[in-house]
Amino acid sequence: MCGIVGYIGNKEAYPILISGLYRLEYRGYDSAGIAIVNSKTNIYKTQGKVSDLENFASGKDIKGTIGIGHTRWATHGEPNNVNAHPHKSMNGHFVIIHNGIIENYARLKKRLENRGYIFESETDTEVLVNLIEHIYLIGQVSAEVAVRLALTKVVGAFGILVICKDENNQIIAARKGSPLVIGVGKGEYFFASDASPIIEHTSSVIYLNDNDMAVVTKDSLSLKTINNDFLEPKIQTIDIELGEIEKGGYDHFMLKEIFEQPRSINDTFRGRISLDKKQLQLGGLFNIIPKLVEARRIIIIGCGTSWHAGLVGEYLFEELARIPVEVEYASEFRYRNPVIYKDDVVIAISQSGETADTLAAIKLAKENEALVLGICNVVGSSIPRETDGGVYTHAGPEIGVASTKAFTAQVTVLTMMAIILGQKRNTITQEKYEYLIKALTEIPDKIEQILSYNDMFKIIAETYKNSEHFLYLGRGLQFPVALEGALKLKEISYIHAEGYPAAEMKHGPIALIDENMPVVVIATKDKSYEKIVSNIQEIKARKGIVIAIVTKGDTIIKNIANYTIEIPEVYEELSPLLTVIPLQILSYHIAVLRGCNVDQPRNLAKSVTVE
Ligand code: G6P
Repeated sequence: MCGIVGYIGNKEAYPILISGLYRLEYRGYDSAGIAIVNSKTNIYKTQGKVSDLENFASGKDIKGTIGIGHTRWATHGEPNNVNAHPHKSMNGHFVIIHNGIIENYARLKKRLENRGYIFESETDTEVLVNLIEHIYLIGQVSAEVAVRLALTKVVGAFGILVICKDENNQIIAARKGSPLVIGVGKGEYFFASDASPIIEHTSSVIYLNDNDMAVVTKDSLSLKTINNDFLEPKIQTIDIELGEIEKGGYDHFMLKEIFEQPRSINDTFRGRISLDKKQLQLGGLFNIIPKLVEARRIIIIGCGTSWHAGLVGEYLFEELARIPVEVEYASEFRYRNPVIYKDDVVIAISQSGETADTLAAIKLAKENEALVLGICNVVGSSIPRETDGGVYTHAGPEIGVASTKAFTAQVTVLTMMAIILGQKRNTITQEKYEYLIKALTEIPDKIEQILSYNDMFKIIAETYKNSEHFLYLGRGLQFPVALEGALKLKEISYIHAEGYPAAEMKHGPIALIDENMPVVVIATKDKSYEKIVSNIQEIKARKGIVIAIVTKGDTIIKNIANYTIEIPEVYEELSPLLTVIPLQILSYHIAVLRGCNVDQPRNLAKSVTVE
């Protein structure tokens, strides 16, 4: 939540900050602002998107080679011009941008008010900047010391960039709980919440760890902990191409990411599958496999779409490897004193690798001495660094707020893990092991076939775009896909949608069905095929509208449903990788036809770094 950028060097900061903010807009987009240092520090901020900020700043004094910028997802205080960042301290010594939440802000605010501080905004961030200033003035210390001491007094999460009027040749950066990356150029440094604004300038980066603080001038960087211990900066090279974070001719990032899936899934298993050797290997689990094989239980944690991928994982691990699995919302798990055994393996799934609840759940699992693994997309993010091992999904940057290619990449990794464990635990035959590996490599082509029906999805979307509710039904492995389909639709089109296990329909949702209710049923040929045909009959008997996802060549459902969408034949365990695709495309077209902002749906953010 919230994106932050910064620049210090010899170039004009404004264009670098603005283009960086556009890249980070997926993290929040209810208001935006910048501060640029020249003879004084000019601050421009406004409610709305980065484009509104650009309009607002147009014609104003934006010259300067040092600056910071922010795009906000409101936590404390509604989105408006005053609550937008940057925030200035009352006496004007400091300017700050902040991603995160200061949890003890109310107490700190009271103390500062008692000392005469007056606040303009409702934000926790303004409390922090005034706390820094208060320490700076009372303690007669340097800006660096004031920031450091203030950070020892706050509880919560922060990624911050701070400029001090009296030492205006530097930017101070610090993080705890919220991500922050520093790009290292020649005589210049770039700051951002993730690497996407940096890669067009440099591929050398330093990922700050929790409690790290950097003091940066255009020619120097010094790294310390908030407790004042010196650290050696670790410069890493990132290999993201600029094209990967641009729309590449598509109308929206979401559409691009849906259509990228044949490639992104290939990238997920690249180097991990050897067809000649009939082998599957996951480097990140190499040393951990023995413990995983012996696991008493697997607990999968995640949020949103990642949680849905976890539900698919539950089915796969139980079916192929016969290991009991529990899937938990990270936010529930962390607060309910769960029973965790030392021989449990906890798998945290996260696209961003930064979700606050998932990170907290990981900490809890580690405290209980469970082995903790991560399945993440963003390389170098916090979760891979907090876990004992894991697997990157390598789906490439996902910018659309509604997750698509990250989901299929997560399911691909879970499938690979389940196949490996099945073989090692002798719960699948060698023949099945080899067959599954081969079948997995055929998935990208099969997705390509589904994508070629794009025009048909548009017709269905046109027909039902004004519906007020949708129901999504699936059984077994298709139940999590139904949940994911419903989530996609509600996220981007604001149509109320619910996913249900098909057999549960009789226990409530059937009461909703009438001639205005489209029901999307995932009815592929698998072991519950006959049962789901009966469910479709039950819907039709109540005049419901059925849009069915069926296996190619199905004639039975074609005769009953209003629309059928065919997917190629596929091994049952791999079918979620195909059945989810029509649901993604359908929601995309419905949202576009309803005039919604597909890539930046209201109230949402891609990366939820607050609990
Ligand atoms: C947000 C995003 C979702 C995502 C969820 C979990 O709600 O909008 O698309 O599934 O966070 O994020 P993670 O990065 O942990 O997968």
